[in-house]
Amino acid sequence: MTERDVPPVAGPLVRPRRLRTTPALRRMVGETSLEARQLVLPLFVREGLAEPKPISSMPGVVQHTRDSLLKAVAEAADLGLGGVMLFGIPETKDATGSGGIDPAGVLNLAITDVVAEVGDALTVMSDLCLDEFTDHGHCGVLTADGRVDNDRTLAAYAEMARAQAHAGVDMVGPSGMMDGQVAVIRAALDDAEHTDVSILAYSAKYASAFFGPFREAVDSSLEGDRRTYQQDPGNAREGVREALLDVAEGADIVMVKPALAYLDVVQRVRAAVDVPVAAYNISGEYAMVEAAAANGWIDREAAIFETLTSIRRAGADIVLTYWAAEAARLMRAAA
Ligand code: PBG
Repeated sequence: MTERDVPPVAGPLVRPRRLRTTPALRRMVGETSLEARQLVLPLFVREGLAEPKPISSMPGVVQHTRDSLLKAVAEAADLGLGGVMLFGIPETKDATGSGGIDPAGVLNLAITDVVAEVGDALTVMSDLCLDEFTDHGHCGVLTADGRVDNDRTLAAYAEMARAQAHAGVDMVGPSGMMDGQVAVIRAALDDAEHTDVSILAYSAKYASAFFGPFREAVDSSLEGDRRTYQQDPGNAREGVREALLDVAEGADIVMVKPALAYLDVVQRVRAAVDVPVAAYNISGEYAMVEAAAANGWIDREAAIFETLTSIRRAGADIVLTYWAAEAARLMRAAA
């Protein structure tokens, strides 16, 4: 057959490209929204710091001083973010993580400062975990032979929850993956008449290599890994089970973490529960994009929005991201 003999092609009957013709049309048929109110900014505050200290593995993210933290939360409120998630780094760490429970500890003081600064304009959340405060870097207290002691850790979490609620927090974020942590924290809050303090449970949290830069962010001394309490990366069904357990124990919001390598888990958890679902776009996910962009290998802003959109598309109602303020600023400028 020569070229002249080829029969004329009628053309496709269905043309999905028609709805991609103009920016206005693409905007109208867009399936996934991204709004400032859906974003939560994690912030680090370090005791005894005179100047904000850059975290080298997370370009653009710093350990804050008490003062610089307040500037950051005021800006977050101004941008209309959903909330902030506070992490504290104490000057000294010990075996039981007592700095997390001490009312004068760095995180508890920061909570009070932040609530005074922003009032009701933002939901103020705090990490409820011992790893930032322990000298061994684990999320709980240890047995004599070095294992993480689930039930003694629960008692510490109960105390930490009461201290954070007393400091004025709106929502606590238990991230230690101890069995029964949500129930114990709910009971402790209720006993102390903090029935309005809500719980964002880190429900499906995986033992992930992508937490790497966070270790620098909180000056962690962890050696080894968290595989006896965080989940195996291959287990999706188990992530759903953890989320259902946390809802049964009283979680107000459940979270999947990390986000990008676990978008299937986000989708499955979203389908399985009736509470809002959050996903944490973690330190290593941030670092990968920043590092590639710094090398000129990808378009940084496009990669940020594609990342955040993918997490929303998978089903997350709320996204914790170190880009929260910047993304909100860019969306405002584009509106
Ligand atoms: C535990 C906690 C971690 C993160 C949030 N809460 C560290 C871990 O479990 O190893 C990681 C957040 C990130 O990597 O951005 N307190």
